Amino acid sequence: MAASNARRKRCVLSIIAAVLLFRTSEAANFIRVRSGVFVDDKCKEFKFSGYNAWQVIEAAVDMCCGGHDALVQQFQDAARNNLTVVRMFGFPVQEGFNLQTAPGVYNEQAFRGMDTVIAEAAKQGLRLVIAFANNWNYNDLQTDWK
Ligand SMILES: *[C@@H]1O[C@H](CO)[C@@H](O)[C@H](O)[C@H]1NC(C)=O
Repeated sequence: MAASNARRKRCVLSIIAAVLLFRTSEAANFIRVRSGVFVDDKCKEFKFSGYNAWQVIEAAVDMCCGGHDALVQQFQDAARNNLTVVRMFGFPVQEGFNLQTAPGVYNEQAFRGMDTVIAEAAKQGLRLVIAFANNWNYNDLQTDWK
């Protein structure tokens, strides 16, 4: 208990120091690592269960996977089952549907999908780990993404 309190005190001090030094709120409500453990913005240890989801952006804009309603249902089911973290692809995987279509040209629909995913996750108290790249070789995949 004493060690835990000392760790929490060091954590709070490190966040205050970061705010003073870098003039940032360290993005309130983000999970961070302090002394080797995940902590929330109140320096309380953050333990979690979660799952991977990859076509959430497309689902959010009704392009696949049951669409927006199924995405909402999935997040509600996750929250009801005490899952608190979703690791998602921060990009669509459907061929021809990209966040960026050319240098400096962005796909508004895909970004709306991303916004929707983030908003729906927040409604359920889910935290997101957003992966912005993967190592899949799309040439070798035999999957029909439609
Ligand atoms: C979720 O957590 C609550 C509170 O700890 C517990 O009562 C409930 O059984 C849990 N539900 C599942 C599906 O694990």
